[in-house]
Amino acid sequence: MLTATAPDVDYRLSSEPGTLLEFDPVQFAECFDRKPFFISHRLCEHPLFDLERLLKLAQTLPEKHIEYNAGTLPVNQDQKLTPRNGLSVAETVRRIRECKSWMVLKWVEYDPAYRALLEQCLSEVRQHSDAIRPGMCQPQAFIFLTSPGSVTPYHIDPEHNFLLQVRGSKIVRLFNGNDPTILSHEELEKFYGARQRNFALREENRDRCWTYDLQPGLGLHFPVTFPHWVQNGDDVSVSFSITFRTPDLDRRRAVYAFNHRLRQWGGQPTPYGCRSSLDNWKYQTMRVGNRLSQLFRRNDD
Ligand SMILES: [Fe+2]
Repeated sequence: MLTATAPDVDYRLSSEPGTLLEFDPVQFAECFDRKPFFISHRLCEHPLFDLERLLKLAQTLPEKHIEYNAGTLPVNQDQKLTPRNGLSVAETVRRIRECKSWMVLKWVEYDPAYRALLEQCLSEVRQHSDAIRPGMCQPQAFIFLTSPGSVTPYHIDPEHNFLLQVRGSKIVRLFNGNDPTILSHEELEKFYGARQRNFALREENRDRCWTYDLQPGLGLHFPVTFPHWVQNGDDVSVSFSITFRTPDLDRRRAVYAFNHRLRQWGGQPTPYGCRSSLDNWKYQTMRVGNRLSQLFRRNDD
């Protein structure tokens, strides 16, 4: 089945001057949006990731851009019951070494300096990704700041993602999201239709993963909705997540959301990907439905 992997090549030795990221183009073409793979980056000394600068960022971001909680969590954690850490945002950043917390600064492109950095990184990704998944859109960046030993519970995410490790280390366990014995169609329907993000990692699947030791200077590609959980090393960790969407993901999201409703009404929906014509019909139905509800909402205002 799936086996633990480590980078075969130190791409840091072959990176070109002037670029922030370095890919193996052959590996990128083979694996992007299909399998995780390592890349390398040059952001470890970047001043935007100093703790003082991150504190300033956290103090200027809107409240809804910041999520943080206790970091000593089990792998299986109901997201609605995630315990708080009892501290303010600023205290959490200042005391991150000892406060056993997990924090994410979301949509940091709100700050022009981080937006410029995101744009430069994604322009380098796009040179490789466009041939495979054209139409890069919705660029978004997240910064994870976590205490030594913190655990990010088992969950899935909706974007194409490269997680760039800037400081500290983490062990990432990634599971094949295309295997329905690991991630079922029903779980994907709940993700797209009911915004459920955390799922239970079943005991029989616990070891069916790729295991990556993510060290500073390395980045890891997460294919869309591949489940994962993460364990910090024994130092403070700073990671920069650069993400984007492509138009094909809209169709996938709409079909799963349609199937979620159908299942709630007692139906047994044909899974996404089984019948292209049926998927198209569901996608168009959802688009029309969403447009109509937007129109009605506007008329109510
Ligand atoms: Fe994630």
